[in-house]
Amino acid sequence: MSSGRHSGKVAVCVGSATGMGAESAYRLACEGAKVVVGDINMAAADKLIERIAAAGGEAVARHCDVASEQQVNDLIQGAARDFGGLDVMHVNAADLSLGPKDGDAMSIDLATFDRSIEVNLRGHLLCTRAAIPLMRERGKGAIVYTSSDAAKTAAPFQFSYYVSKAGLNALMRHVAIRWGSKGIRANAICPGVILTETVQKVMNEDVLANALKSIPSTRLGQPQDIANLVSFLLSDESEWINGQAISIDGGSVMHG
Ligand SMILES: NC(=O)c1ccc[n+]([C@@H]2O[C@H](COP(=O)([O-])OP(=O)(O)OC[C@H]3O[C@@H](n4cnc5c(N)ncnc54)[C@H](O)[C@@H]3O)[C@@H](O)[C@H]2O)c1
Repeated sequence: MSSGRHSGKVAVCVGSATGMGAESAYRLACEGAKVVVGDINMAAADKLIERIAAAGGEAVARHCDVASEQQVNDLIQGAARDFGGLDVMHVNAADLSLGPKDGDAMSIDLATFDRSIEVNLRGHLLCTRAAIPLMRERGKGAIVYTSSDAAKTAAPFQFSYYVSKAGLNALMRHVAIRWGSKGIRANAICPGVILTETVQKVMNEDVLANALKSIPSTRLGQPQDIANLVSFLLSDESEWINGQAISIDGGSVMHG
């Protein structure tokens, strides 16, 4: 695709083989970006590339585990080498398999806590460290991290997930204040319940119905809602938005 909001840009989307990350990568490609998708799920990543190609977009998939500094560096430096630079990045990876083991601060085993931080927070730091020098070369750049309303709220369970997402918002604000004057913006999106395949596997119908009852909206979220926001935050239309953790949740969390 030659014309569109992201025309001529190189985008790296990390942890974006499925769900809202995949929908966002698809949107960026349909809007003209050359997209490099890094994920551990190569079967799904390859399917996404086929879907993008069928829509006339340009994308490649590379294996990348965000727990590995080497793999993150290879992904992001490789994208810049192959496509001539790096303009925008969406970091979306989270280890969502930990759910049942992710209890309260007393019961959680430290291996679960460490893994949550390793993927959901440290992995995002590694992507940031690889991307900033390349964006500095361009003189501008934009990063979106997928956080969660969990970063702004509390629960008696999923302790490590909440901590990792709160840390991610702090990482985002640090990047925004440290490199904003160099033309690099950072923002986080904080979704409420979004009906991805993963969520529909872990939440049964009753849980989803209760989630809907608890929010001032007619429906739960869809991956397309996230793609709308990610595309906007990575575009020049949002040039004056920096350092924000934006809830996208049907009005579930209202903070002034
Ligand atoms: N769906 C929701 O309701 C919801 C709500 C709030 C926040 N989130 C956040 O949104 C993001 C996406 O969630 P989703 O619902 O689309 O689920 P998903 O399972 O479809 O997406 C997670 C992606 O991360 C990838 N991933 C996991 N571990 C990785 C690793 N070590 N290295 C690289 N990639 C890895 C997975 O393969 C997958 O592509 C996550 O960060 C999640 O915490 C989701």
